Amino acid sequence: MALQDSEKIIDITHLHKKFTLENSNELTVLNDINLSVKKGEFICIVGGSGCGKSTLLRTIAGLDLEFEGNVAVSGKDINGPSKTRGLVFQEARLFPWMTVQQNVEFALDGVPKAEKKRRAKEILELVHLSDFAKSYPKELSGGMAQRANIARALVDNPPVLLLDEPFGALDAFTKIQLQDELLAIQEQEGTTMVMVTHDIEEAVYLADRVVVLSNRPGQIKDIIDIDISRPRHRNDQYFVLKKKKIFNYFFEEKEIEEDYVI
Ligand SMILES: Nc1ncnc2c1ncn2[C@@H]1O[C@H](COP(=O)(O)OP(=O)(O)OP(=O)(O)O)[C@@H](O)[C@H]1O
Ligand SMILES: [Mg+2]
Repeated sequence: MALQDSEKIIDITHLHKKFTLENSNELTVLNDINLSVKKGEFICIVGGSGCGKSTLLRTIAGLDLEFEGNVAVSGKDINGPSKTRGLVFQEARLFPWMTVQQNVEFALDGVPKAEKKRRAKEILELVHLSDFAKSYPKELSGGMAQRANIARALVDNPPVLLLDEPFGALDAFTKIQLQDELLAIQEQEGTTMVMVTHDIEEAVYLADRVVVLSNRPGQIKDIIDIDISRPRHRNDQYFVLKKKKIFNYFFEEKEIEEDYVI
């Protein structure tokens, strides 16, 4: 899909990344990544452990500026972290001494107090956490903590949200619920989402396009359009086909033996 420059919010060209290790050896982690993301698009990145997914996300976040190639957001080369890119990690990094509401307000630097309160309240409603606004992180379940984490990343209304396995530590039920909430937020706010996940089904459920990375050094093996209207149904034939296509990049299909009876 060729995008016009004006449509692109993230534009990555010829990104190469290597780390210099303690023993002075070099480890190439990303190899010639080229990816343009459209405003309001939902991109999922899948790939094996250690292939460079988090490195790619951290680079887009501006947390690591030592790379070759170009990474631009909204037409500007990145030069560090920015409020225009919210970040959500697997574990909710909330301040334990602050309430949920205070944690969310903390993300609003330089905003008048009353406005902070109003915006935090609004975003906590959006993630269905209003009843726990006055709770402390230790009083929350894993799902609630992750909701608070997402609220904190979204409260300043960043045009881009970067998520690194945000639901990886949650049980299946909470995960499915939060996936729907994330889609609802995206629809309401128009946020561009780039999410790393190990879960192929999650990627097909959420994404407009799924980026499949090879093993390290991470290279784009394929970008798969998920042209399925929403709400998506996980058991639909076409949904399962998309899942299978991605699955096949990682695992060889085992033929079921003829005499295998269930
Ligand atoms: N700061 C660093 N210094 C040296 N090597 C690093 C550094 N950060 C990551 N690496 C290496 O880069 C490779 C990619 O790491 P990365 O965290 O991006 O993988 P990943 O795809 O997110 O894996 P996982 O699915 O397990 O989270 C790994 O081999 C890791 O050891
Ligand atoms: Mg990772």
